[in-house]
Amino acid sequence: MPETTNGLARGLRLQAAWCAALESPLYASLLESAADDLESGGPVATIIEGFGEEPGSAALALRLMGSVHRLVLDDTLPDLARHYPSTGGDGDDAAAWRLFRQALIDYPSRIRDLLAGGCQTNEVGRSAALLGGFLEVAHRTGLPLRILEIGASAGLNLRWDRYRYESAEGSWGDPSSRVRFTHSYDIPPPMNRPAEVIERKGCDLHPIDPNSEDGALTLRSLIWADQLGRMAQLDGALEIARDDPLEVEEIDAASFLERELARPRRGVATVVFHSVFMQYVDESSRQRIATAIEEARVFYLRMEPADTFEIRLDGELLGTCHAHGTHVRWVVNEQ
Ligand SMILES: C[S@@+](CC[C@H](N)C(=O)[O-])C[C@H]1O[C@@H](n2cnc3c(N)ncnc32)[C@H](O)[C@@H]1O
Repeated sequence: MPETTNGLARGLRLQAAWCAALESPLYASLLESAADDLESGGPVATIIEGFGEEPGSAALALRLMGSVHRLVLDDTLPDLARHYPSTGGDGDDAAAWRLFRQALIDYPSRIRDLLAGGCQTNEVGRSAALLGGFLEVAHRTGLPLRILEIGASAGLNLRWDRYRYESAEGSWGDPSSRVRFTHSYDIPPPMNRPAEVIERKGCDLHPIDPNSEDGALTLRSLIWADQLGRMAQLDGALEIARDDPLEVEEIDAASFLERELARPRRGVATVVFHSVFMQYVDESSRQRIATAIEEARVFYLRMEPADTFEIRLDGELLGTCHAHGTHVRWVVNEQ
């Protein structure tokens, strides 16, 4: 078997294991079947031909799943929809795999076009991981917040203060919010802290417009089809975005920060933040981002992968969590 096929099959199996660990049995099973199919030269091999040289961060396995999910959501694949929970289906993985495989044979050019489009998510659940960091800054400074998100995608986490967070030890946010996090915290951050956002801005190299039909479909298609809680959070966030539009500027993060942080701002606590972003940024941009933040002496909050995912404020570890912002374990005590 060619080395690239081996590598791609390994990538599909690795993603299958992550999906299993992150509680998506349907995607875990479909990806295992896709790896078998690739190794036996089936339609998966044809569909992903030419994508073999990409780095792992390009998330080919998730793009494959997202491409087919998109055709389920836009009614191209009504039979597969009967087995995808996101469209009310039964989650039968064996039946889903047969139809998934057939879709690769029936719609090769549409799926290859979608595959080429990249994997651009906007995970609303990460607001639950970032919440404690924003509250920490508000608590320490007593100031209203000016928040700047780099790599904001559709900007859904820029509206973190419009969502509701609940834990065994406390809650925060609008009790009637259409986005509710009720199972995000193993060890919650202190929530008995007020915070007000008075300015919010985001940037992305390729912003998604959450208020366009295409943008919303892109975001929904990248939610794993058996994760209805994440889908409900995304749908709630899309509704809130419709009522409360904001622009995510199409600009590189380093240039955005150099401009936004050029002059000090008084009377506000400026927080630069990002989640699952740095792995996409080249070394020279990383340097420019670090310099802009250091020179401006603003707060720097982020949620990025390490051994697990870490939530850090400046140099301090605040907590850890899983990739989608669940299982948050806060490590900083009340000050
Ligand atoms: C995996 S997504 C994460 C999006 C969002 N932060 C979240 O957690 O849901 C990474 C985002 O970073 C953006 N991105 C990558 N490099 C960038 C850069 N140099 N400047 C601005 N955005 C960038 C991508 O377009 C993409 O939207």
